[in-house]
Amino acid sequence: MSRSLAFLSDVHGNLPALEAALRDLDARGVDEIYFLGDAIGKGPSVHEVLSLLRERCRGAVYGNWDRLILSSKDGERFGVPYYRARLNAEERAWLASLPETLELRFAGRSVLGYHGRFSIDRVVTPMLNNERENVEKAMYRFGPHDITVMGDAHHSFLLTNQGRYLLNTGAVGNPCDRMPLVSYLLLHERDGAFSIEHVRVPYDVRRAVSLALRSPDLPMLETYIRETVTAVYSRSYAPQTALPRSPWEDLPLSVYEDYAAREGLSSALSHVLAEQMRDLPAGSVCLLGVGGGSGLAFASALSYEHILGVDVSESFLSACRARFAHLGPRLELLRLDLRDPKARLPHAELLLADLVIEEAGLAAFVRQVALCAPRLLSCVVNLCHTPPGGPFAPAFADIEKQRCDVDPQALVRALEKQGLRMTRLQTYPGGGARLLLRLDFVRP
Ligand SMILES: [Fe+2]
Repeated sequence: MSRSLAFLSDVHGNLPALEAALRDLDARGVDEIYFLGDAIGKGPSVHEVLSLLRERCRGAVYGNWDRLILSSKDGERFGVPYYRARLNAEERAWLASLPETLELRFAGRSVLGYHGRFSIDRVVTPMLNNERENVEKAMYRFGPHDITVMGDAHHSFLLTNQGRYLLNTGAVGNPCDRMPLVSYLLLHERDGAFSIEHVRVPYDVRRAVSLALRSPDLPMLETYIRETVTAVYSRSYAPQTALPRSPWEDLPLSVYEDYAAREGLSSALSHVLAEQMRDLPAGSVCLLGVGGGSGLAFASALSYEHILGVDVSESFLSACRARFAHLGPRLELLRLDLRDPKARLPHAELLLADLVIEEAGLAAFVRQVALCAPRLLSCVVNLCHTPPGGPFAPAFADIEKQRCDVDPQALVRALEKQGLRMTRLQTYPGGGARLLLRLDFVRP
């Protein structure tokens, strides 16, 4: 006896890619086809793609784009109104009827299919960082299934743990793994034997581009064509060309200081900074996110030969320069965006990074730690973040969008890989609901 199932995902309105996948499936005589979301959005072929999926798939779940297009009140984001306007009532009803997950039995195993919006953060990033434990946690997000299949990542993968599988189909119509080939997944059962196959199929990329060009109103047309031709996710282009401006550069220092003072954050941070410098004596110190001079008053009283203050905002640094001119050549102020892959943080014996990892992202921070090679490192992350509200909300809106929570365990693991050993873990009240976690590290 033999049976085979196909899982397709992330067609994104790319008709030539979907047709190539279906031709390949027909040639193989695959029994059942399941679709794991993101039928439309990005590419131009809304009706054709939906009609083929409805005709050929035995089961389907919704993807984040499908939901966004159906239900978002968020007017212009990603060109949502363009796709929404192209849906007829029947197509809208079909998309709205799609469940979040599908479950079936195959080869004596339980199979769960879902799109997996969380998979980028919870699976792909930990996987790339070799954080096995976090990947395994994600594998059980939806319960104890033998096989979990998802899409969304636009990048195929296979993970195993104690006989269970976490599989990603890759994308049919919008692969982002630098191979412009259709990607889908097959599960086979033959005479009791079970096997998994990741399939890549060439398709008519030129036709996909010409269909897009025939839809001149297609939102983000150039981005779509570039992604289709290169199979590189468009956001990956940003660091290679110009780093997007940091929203901190547009925040007036007076607004930040007013906010931090009212919230009790500045006094909380000053207290922690003083303790960090007192507990970790060193010849030189680097303060990341020095702002208008956080910690410099205390640093100036200690016998550092060299004090380096780093911030992304030139206006913060010029205020700092004026306020601490009396430190003379002991103080060096450097404008540096920690997210910039070309940036190189100079060496300092003690590196202080309080509430900056959330802004830079863990990977970018760790890259700079590797370059700076400090003997001592102390950092603070906020365990209970609440976005600035009331009159401060608009000024911080863009900052909030790029901010990410830091998993302390992941931070410790990443720094341990850099040869640093954790020596202290301590919490402090941070003003308001904030809970600040201080972590110290030493290079043995
Ligand atoms: Fe997608």
